[in-house]
Amino acid sequence: MPERRDTLLYLDGVSVAFDGFRAINNLSLVLKKGEMRAIIGPNGAGKTTMMDIITGKTRPDEGEVFFNGDIDLTRHDEADIAMMGIGRKFQKPTVFESHTVEDNLVLALAGPRSIFPALVHAGSRAEAARIDDILETIRLAERRHDLAANLSHGQKQWLEIGMLLAQDPKLLLVDEPVAGMTDAETEETARLLRDIATTHSVIVVEHDMHFVRELGVKVTCLHEGSVLSEGTLDHVSADDRVIEVYLGR
Ligand SMILES: Nc1ncnc2c1ncn2[C@@H]1O[C@H](COP(=O)(O)OP(=O)(O)OP(=O)(O)O)[C@@H](O)[C@H]1O
Ligand SMILES: [Mg+2]
Repeated sequence: MPERRDTLLYLDGVSVAFDGFRAINNLSLVLKKGEMRAIIGPNGAGKTTMMDIITGKTRPDEGEVFFNGDIDLTRHDEADIAMMGIGRKFQKPTVFESHTVEDNLVLALAGPRSIFPALVHAGSRAEAARIDDILETIRLAERRHDLAANLSHGQKQWLEIGMLLAQDPKLLLVDEPVAGMTDAETEETARLLRDIATTHSVIVVEHDMHFVRELGVKVTCLHEGSVLSEGTLDHVSADDRVIEVYLGR
């Protein structure tokens, strides 16, 4: 394990049981500052539960969970952790359908981690520039005045990622972003996340191996609540244990 103080996220020996069943079992995982990591693994491997632990939704029974080297996340609740800069995207998009794309971002900018002081009210130049920036990143500049309801499923996912970006997170957790997307949207999502990863740390959980290959980042395969294999996608997908429990399905 690297020195904890140099890491963005540091999990060591983490376990959590639900009614005696160990969903997370002595899990150790380290994310460097600025890193994007892909997490794969079979259904029930503990991928979402790991995100629940990082975001304070679930408290581990054992183990260490540190953010930014020295913040003990097990001592904080979900609201605190969101304020510290850990943003999470759940699988189902939760955009405001009856608002425009732009207004969704305006609402998100005013959220709890707003970098805009109360005095800088809606419509300020800084805010407009930030919105333009995010719209470019999420490939929705042309759709800014459309109602969110009229976006495709994939575009709604991108808008929600934009709403997370508006909160200026240090770490983004994204759970199965391309489920239900078209092939073209899936490929664009890989590019979009690679763009975001130039300025943010990211953890992406996904089952779509084509997408994971497009991300081109280090991969961790979870199984029964622990790390089964870790490394390049080529390394992990050549691992016999990974083939047996996951890829060979
Ligand atoms: N709050 C909870 N209460 C009881 N059991 C839970 C809870 N959360 C997760 N589990 C169980 O823990 C195990 C891990 O679930 P988890 O959702 O983390 O898997 P996953 O890797 O995200 O799977 P998938 O790929 O299907 O999303 C499962 O057996 C699940 O039923
Ligand atoms: Mg899951």
